[in-house]
Amino acid sequence: MSKAKVVVLTGITTTGTPHLGNYVGAIRPAIEASRDPNVLPFYFLADYHALIKCQEPKRIQQSTLEIAATWLALGLNTDNAVFYRQSDIPEVTELAWILSCVTAKGLMNRAHAYKAAVAENTEKGEPDPDKGISMGLFCYPILMAADILLFKAQRIPVGKDQIQHLEMARDIAARFNHLYGEHFVLPEAVVREETAVLKGLDGRKMSKSYDNTIPIFASEKQLRKLILKIKTNSLPPEAPKDPDTCTLFSLYQAFASPEEIEQVRRRYQQGIAWGEMKQFLFEYLNAYFRDARTRYEALLQHPEEIERKLREGAAKAREFAVPFMREIRQAVGIAPLAGG
Ligand code: TRP
Repeated sequence: MSKAKVVVLTGITTTGTPHLGNYVGAIRPAIEASRDPNVLPFYFLADYHALIKCQEPKRIQQSTLEIAATWLALGLNTDNAVFYRQSDIPEVTELAWILSCVTAKGLMNRAHAYKAAVAENTEKGEPDPDKGISMGLFCYPILMAADILLFKAQRIPVGKDQIQHLEMARDIAARFNHLYGEHFVLPEAVVREETAVLKGLDGRKMSKSYDNTIPIFASEKQLRKLILKIKTNSLPPEAPKDPDTCTLFSLYQAFASPEEIEQVRRRYQQGIAWGEMKQFLFEYLNAYFRDARTRYEALLQHPEEIERKLREGAAKAREFAVPFMREIRQAVGIAPLAGG
């Protein structure tokens, strides 16, 4: 692997079906970066992270399959990008333990996800503020630090909610380096812009937790049905409408070219019927994803093909992880006593 490239790394938790918000905010920019010869991307399916919030084995398995198929169908360049499943890299969990031993418990006490869970218990009047909170949730930032530090990743594209985790990864890396010498690279968060936040069916941010998403590879029928459900105001068909407060328009804007956007903006000013705009958006998105959807469906018919790709990715990742973990083990004093 060439040293000159910038290592960009990101993980996708395998608990759901990828939706248009994921596409615009994370997948599309990541796939674009995978074509940049100056970037060495590490993209992985964070299935150990999935265990923190999901205890339905079938769902994790299905989500892993769907997410992997989605990235491949959308054209991830796996000649350049290292695309793998976290659980195929045992060095990740091994490193997570070593990092646990240099991480202050107090640092984890301050993690947003943990604090939010405690606050919820307290609000409910629970006598035990830690009720229902697993060690997995508590230590989640350490596992994430291991994901990142293991590959000396420099840039981590994340949503705003993950900034704190990146700060923690830097803290943990610095602490380790201070104790054992300079082994880890301090990663930097690359925060996605707000413009990349897509609106969902109800006009709020498209998110699994609001149940307002449109799956990237919804069938034609499902896609039409979902778009018909999008909330609009009650203006009559001929009335001029404001595109900038309209969910339909904001969805269109995330996919269309500047000229296309301008044209539709004019249609809004002239007065476009909601039914017409919905049909138009449906046709546009349907065409936009048609070829990729065909590839996606073909991949789902051949999970062995996906499995093969993931194993190739894991082998590439381990070319890096195995020797680096040997170095880390050595650094902390865990090494063969003789014979090298
Ligand atoms: N925690 C991230 C999320 O929920 C996913 C993730 C796991 C991740 N490990 C990572 C992101 C490492 C970036 C780097 O979005």
